[in-house]
Amino acid sequence: MLEDVRIAPSILSADLLDLAGELRSVASADYIHFDVMDGHYVPNLSFGPPLLKAVKRGSDLPVDVHLMVTNPDEVYDDYLKAGADLLTFHLETAKHPRRIVDAIHASGRLAGVSINPGTAVSSLDALVECVDMVLVMSVNPGFSGQAFIEQTYGQLSALNELCVRHRVNPLVEVDGGISAQNADRVVAAGARVLVGGNAVFGARDRACAIDEMRQAGRRGLANWA
Ligand code: DX5
Ligand code: ZN
Repeated sequence: MLEDVRIAPSILSADLLDLAGELRSVASADYIHFDVMDGHYVPNLSFGPPLLKAVKRGSDLPVDVHLMVTNPDEVYDDYLKAGADLLTFHLETAKHPRRIVDAIHASGRLAGVSINPGTAVSSLDALVECVDMVLVMSVNPGFSGQAFIEQTYGQLSALNELCVRHRVNPLVEVDGGISAQNADRVVAAGARVLVGGNAVFGARDRACAIDEMRQAGRRGLANWA
């Protein structure tokens, strides 16, 4: 099990007019979280490979790409080519999830699979042994600034059981409504990578917001059984 808490600021909440400055302001984080929304799978439309290339130029941090699209089988390669370090797709939309995972690994990157709040953790049964990360959505995907869904704790607990049964330790990332107020409980429930949209970019001092979220998460680490 990963021993520390990692913070992934989501640039969906950043000021894109000053992308370079926004990326510099979160240099103390562990990843840049890059939300791809296609306006079909989720009601919002965000950004694609050209902006990912710009992010790669503007930050030394690994980029954690979160695909919220109806057709991940068709577009994942565009994001590998644009420099995704960790590429996560939604299980709900993948036609051939195992093929996507294998292709991501063949390119030397890390593969993640995500499930929505309404998706049973048991649906990961066939995939959990071959992914590097599981992203548990703690809001319905589409927008930043939504309230954390409390049933996420149950999802995390079911995921822990699934991982124990399969004897695997994927990174567990939680995305949506995370802040220093709930980071400890989320980590105590099994999360190790925390996405922060509004909690990071809504703060005047981003380094301080990242540190507060990390410290809160570390308190949760102490309660991890
Ligand atoms: C939601 C996105 C999130 C979002 C998080 O669909 O996947 O990554 O940017 O934003 P907050 O932390 O504000 O909920
Ligand atoms: Zn996301």
